Amino acid sequence: MSRLPFHLLPDTAAVDGAGELTIGGLRLTDLAGQFGTPLFVYDEAHIRRRCREAVDAFGGGVAYASKAFLCLAIARLVHDEGMCIDVASDGELHVALAAGVPADRLVLHGNNKALGELDRALEVGVGRIVVDSSDELDRIESLVAAGRPRPRVLIRVTPGIEVHTFDAVQTGQEDSKFGFGWRNGAAEAAVARASESAAMDLVGVHVHIGSQVFSVDNFATAIETVAPLVTALDLPEFCIGGGLGVAYVEGEEGAGIGAWAAAIHRVCERAGIRSKVTAEPGRSIVAQAGVTVYSVGTIKDLPGIRTYVAVDGGMSDNPRPVLYGSGYETFLPRSVAADRPATVRVVGKHCESGDVLVREGRVPADLRVGDVLCTPVTGAYGHSMGSNYNKVARPPVVFVRDGDARLVVRRETLDDLVLRDLPLS
Ligand code: LLP
Repeated sequence: MSRLPFHLLPDTAAVDGAGELTIGGLRLTDLAGQFGTPLFVYDEAHIRRRCREAVDAFGGGVAYASKAFLCLAIARLVHDEGMCIDVASDGELHVALAAGVPADRLVLHGNNKALGELDRALEVGVGRIVVDSSDELDRIESLVAAGRPRPRVLIRVTPGIEVHTFDAVQTGQEDSKFGFGWRNGAAEAAVARASESAAMDLVGVHVHIGSQVFSVDNFATAIETVAPLVTALDLPEFCIGGGLGVAYVEGEEGAGIGAWAAAIHRVCERAGIRSKVTAEPGRSIVAQAGVTVYSVGTIKDLPGIRTYVAVDGGMSDNPRPVLYGSGYETFLPRSVAADRPATVRVVGKHCESGDVLVREGRVPADLRVGDVLCTPVTGAYGHSMGSNYNKVARPPVVFVRDGDARLVVRRETLDDLVLRDLPLS
């Protein structure tokens, strides 16, 4: 009866003799005891495997979209595995550099890069800048005129297509804050301007149609749309962005990086694109590598209505259900393969009713207060979009591998919560 679909768990997930879930050879209930809850646990082997798949499929120019999950440890890991890193702010740039990633392995993104951000990027020598607007072209020209080195740039094109995903993460449609429009001729003009500008070295065209996209046809349409621009100039690089969808709940199935890449290469070839094809996967590298571990604090039974199961985290560690209505599965790591006959609403500890983690969570019948309860597929856009709402301290991050647990981000302390406040006089 509705067991947890195991393909949602990280690669090294296994069930031990006592029916307990292990990841990287360690029981999640033991990790909860050792590090406390809530806790993000990442399967290092899983991430490394996805990075290798991406590098095998696209070559060393492929970039990890760090907005999905960024800390020093992940930046170092994806760099060690041969990926470049997409950074979309001076903050992400700073973290990647602090991890020791060479600047020329970084790709700078953003629809509103400030002069200071661009200045810093040119100063450190980022590998590529994906240019999003005419104002940005102006800024790069002024910085280079003032003595900064010429950057390599790609022009971000908005192909004018709508994809099947939630509205907030669609980016390829005409009515978008991102990129240069295809239909109105802005993209062609920007490419012409960049190729003639002495202040930059135009190396390619970039498109990103959105995130959590399952349909390969959507990527094909984007590629076919911009192909004339790419082939006309025969630029060295064509970047298809990120966006590959991953399975979050029962019934969903992601294509996987290898199959996605193969389809993209096929379409590019058919469209006559001879440039090196690159990509920027974020979610598909880290989402399924991560699991969030909570403790159940209260169970409120409302006969004839529903049962609320409250855990010790919530919208501050995973705002995706609230923001996008995203669905998640739920399971007890002490009996991960158990039937889940009961349906409950898993909520957090924040002071609003909207603080829902799983609207219809399946759980075993013997769920009780004190249980460790997990949500799988929380490795992307959970930690990175976390907040301190209600001054709830942010959870730590642990990487597990071959029986070892490595704390890579410590739990926020209560003192951290007043660190930036100035002392009262
Ligand atoms: N490249 C660009 C230019 C992007 O804007 C993004 C994501 C990516 C690559 C990586 O996309 P991915 O492979 O991770 O789908 N917070 C939302 C997702 C926002 C995505 C923003 N851009 C969520 O939680 O679903």
